[in-house]
Amino acid sequence: MNPPTVAIIVVAAGSGARLGGPEPKAFVTVNGVSILASALVTVFSLAEPAQVIVVAPAGKLDTADRIGRDAAGAASEYLSVVSGGATRQQSVAAGLAVLGDSVTTVLVHDAARSLTPSSLFDAVIAAVRDTGSGVVPGIAVADTIKQTDDAGTVLRTLDRSTLVAVQTPQGFPRAQLVDAYAAADREFTDDAAVFAAAGHPVTVVDGDRLAFKITTSWDLRRAESLTTNDTGIRTGVGMDVHAHDDAAPLWLGGLYWPDEPGLAGHSDGDALSHAVCDALLSAAGLGDVGDRFGTSDPRFAGAHGDVFINETIRLVKGAGYSVGNVAVQLIANRPKLAGRRSELERYLGGLVGAPVSVAATTSDGLGFTGRGDGIAVIATALLYRDR
Ligand code: CTP
Ligand code: MG
Repeated sequence: MNPPTVAIIVVAAGSGARLGGPEPKAFVTVNGVSILASALVTVFSLAEPAQVIVVAPAGKLDTADRIGRDAAGAASEYLSVVSGGATRQQSVAAGLAVLGDSVTTVLVHDAARSLTPSSLFDAVIAAVRDTGSGVVPGIAVADTIKQTDDAGTVLRTLDRSTLVAVQTPQGFPRAQLVDAYAAADREFTDDAAVFAAAGHPVTVVDGDRLAFKITTSWDLRRAESLTTNDTGIRTGVGMDVHAHDDAAPLWLGGLYWPDEPGLAGHSDGDALSHAVCDALLSAAGLGDVGDRFGTSDPRFAGAHGDVFINETIRLVKGAGYSVGNVAVQLIANRPKLAGRRSELERYLGGLVGAPVSVAATTSDGLGFTGRGDGIAVIATALLYRDR
C-alpha cells in the first residue's frame, strides 16, 4: 500500500483543568472508554488510511501508546506518540515535527472532541484538496452574541449571521502549515488562526454537533448520555395470590367490594395492590413486598392497599425512579371488574402518580382460580430513571 498522504495530529496533552478530574482529560472515561480511545477509534476508521500522531502528556506516553495500538489494530505502523508542550500550540508543533515524508495534507484534532464522526474528517480532507486552503468545520451561532466591557456592560450586539463557532478537525496543506507554525510569534487560539496569520486563506465547511469539545463536567455528562446503551428505562413484574375467605370483607386494589367473598392474608389480602407493589419494586431492583413489608411489621397489620402502594412509591422515588405506567391483570371468577374498572384505574393511578390499567380474565374453570378457591394477579410496571 502507498504511504499515507494525510496525517492527523490528535492533541491530547492538556490537563483538563476545567473538567477538574484527577487524570488528564484525554484519559477520563465516558461509559468505560477513554476520551482518547474514542477519538482514535474514529481516526483509524477513515475511508483513507492516515498517519496518526498522538500528542500526549509527558507522563502518559506509555498509556497513550497502549490506547493508540488498541485503536489502530493492524494499522499500528501508522501510529506515533509524542510528548506535548505547555500550550496547545506547542503540542501541535511537537506533532508537526514527526510528520512522515509522504504527507501533503495535515489535520489537527482535539482529542477532547471525542465523538466527532468520521464523516467530518473525510469532508475536511476533501475540502483541503479541493480548495488548497485551510479548512475549518463551523456551526452557525444560534444565540445572539453581545460584546461587553470588563464590568459586564453590553457594548454592542454582533451580527450573528456573520459568525460561526469553529470546531476540529482543522485541515491544511502541509508545507504552508509547517511554515506558519515556524513563523508564529505568539499564542493563537486555534490552528486556523496560526495559518491565517501567515497570510493563508481559510474556508469553513459544515461542522457537526457531535464534534463538541468536552470541556466541563456538563459536557462529560452529555457525552455519556449520547453514548450510553442504558436507556434508564426499567420494567418490572409482580404476582400475588390469595385464597378466598368467605367470612372476610373484600378489599381489592385498595377499594372495598361489598357482597363479594373476601381474601385471607396478614394484611387485608389485597392481591391486586400487592402485585402492583411487587412490579414497582421489581422494576426498581428493590426486592419484593415480602422483603420490604415484613408480616411482623405492625404498620401493615390489617393495612389496606393504599398504605402499601404509598410506601412503595416512596421507596421507588427514593431509588431515583419515576413511574411510567402500571398494567394489571386479574385472574379470578369474581369480582367482575366491568362496573368499577374506571373507578379502580383512577384510584390506583392517583396513588401511583401515573396511568394504571386493569384487565381481568377467568381461567376457563381450570386450577384454583377456576374452582374459585382464590384469585391471582399479575402486574407489570415501567419506570424511568430520573436525570
Ligand atoms: N492540549 C494539548 N496540549 C496543551 C493543552 C491542550 O495537547 N498544552 C489539547 C487538549 O488535550 C485537548 C485540546 O488541546 O484535547 C483542546 O484543549 P482544551 O479543551 O482546552 O483541553 P485542556 O487544555 O486539557 O483543558 P483545560 O483548558 O480545561 O485545562
Ligand atoms: Mg486548554
